[in-house]
Amino acid sequence: MTNVVVVGSQWGDEGKGKIVDWLSERADIVVRFQGGHNAGHTLVIDGVSYKLSLLPSGIVRGGKISVIGNGVVLDPHALVAEIDKLAGQGVKVTPENLRIADNATLILSVHRELDGLREDAASNSGTKIGTTRRGIGPAYEDKVGRRAIRVMDLADMETLPGKVDRILTHHNALRRGLGEKEVSHEAIMQELTSVAERVLPFRETVWELLDKERRKGARILFEGAQGSLLDIDHGTYPFVTSSNTVAGQASAGSGMGPGALGYILGITKAYTTRVGEGPFPTELKDEIGQFLGEKGHEFGTVTGRKRRCGWFDAALVRQSVATNGITGIALTKLDVLDGLDELKICVGYKLDGVQIDHLPASQGAQARVEPVYVTLEGWKESTVGARKWADLPAQAIKYVRQVEELIGAPVALLSTSPEREDTILVTDPFED
Ligand code: IMP
Repeated sequence: MTNVVVVGSQWGDEGKGKIVDWLSERADIVVRFQGGHNAGHTLVIDGVSYKLSLLPSGIVRGGKISVIGNGVVLDPHALVAEIDKLAGQGVKVTPENLRIADNATLILSVHRELDGLREDAASNSGTKIGTTRRGIGPAYEDKVGRRAIRVMDLADMETLPGKVDRILTHHNALRRGLGEKEVSHEAIMQELTSVAERVLPFRETVWELLDKERRKGARILFEGAQGSLLDIDHGTYPFVTSSNTVAGQASAGSGMGPGALGYILGITKAYTTRVGEGPFPTELKDEIGQFLGEKGHEFGTVTGRKRRCGWFDAALVRQSVATNGITGIALTKLDVLDGLDELKICVGYKLDGVQIDHLPASQGAQARVEPVYVTLEGWKESTVGARKWADLPAQAIKYVRQVEELIGAPVALLSTSPEREDTILVTDPFED
């Protein structure tokens, strides 16, 4: 028995929801360790659909502890709204089943506004990132700038006013530069005090809780958000999110030492998608891209934006296997490829006429690379709902084996429809 870290191995939206749900049923504790309410997934349990952005997936199941770790940036108003929405669906969120790290950074209205103001300004100059406008980047900036307000600060009325002054000195200078109205001390104090009583009952010394539970033998699931190619260090910078999304962050973002992380499961879509701006070497702007988008329902859960679609990029996923230390992958949405005459997999790139085997870090080079493909025969049969290898057409198995070989990691789970049971289980990550 081991703990499990789930990460996206591409640009997010790999179908983590279904797999995390399956795993969270078997976990005692589910931990978010990075990102914020920029993430989004829908869980369907007994025919009821629950939309989560900030809360860990374990929250909709009884008898589990859900944890928001210190690596998360937490919008307290978004948290309260999500808790209230779940209450309307009959899910009770209490300090029994939710714990929030007292050292997690808060997202304030000034962060959300700054995110939007910058994106609007960048639209005119063509340098837009295409963020979710939730204030994620600006909140992490303040964390690293050592002026953030954290969960525990809501309980300390002695020091909070000084912290608000400090953060506002910074933000009002930025706002003046952008031609925006300044924000008053009273407005931010009101924003924080109005929500403090709702947030503080959940505060927890998370590293200690995890240490105790781990020693008792609890199964801990770390639920990553976004994907490895959106990682602030390892992703396609600057078109990335502002947190480390790779598996190592499960440790830093929760306070559980890396030796206890266990199995690293990389959720991997059988083709590639991306939302927002940035390089995408295998993007298909033709009818095949359209086919993948429509068949795969590729629209953002949080912003509703249409996702860009393209062929599977094995060079990128191979990189994610390395940067995350992926033990095995969960391959999702294979069925979306059913019916295509032929399939391409990117195995490397050509950069200025020279063949390379990984995406270079430079933004200019990333924009210039051309994918090098291998072509495989497609299959006409439906793979929807396959639950064992024998249910799959030979060409589909060949595709999966080729993916495994090219990325250097085995398939642990293969998902063949949004239904939980439509999964081929090769290795149970908790039992590995
Ligand atoms: P931010 O995280 O809102 O700052 O957005 C930065 C980039 O990450 C943008 O390209 C977003 O589209 C992308 N992004 C953020 N969260 C997600 C997610 O959950 N899935 C896919 N892309 C995401």
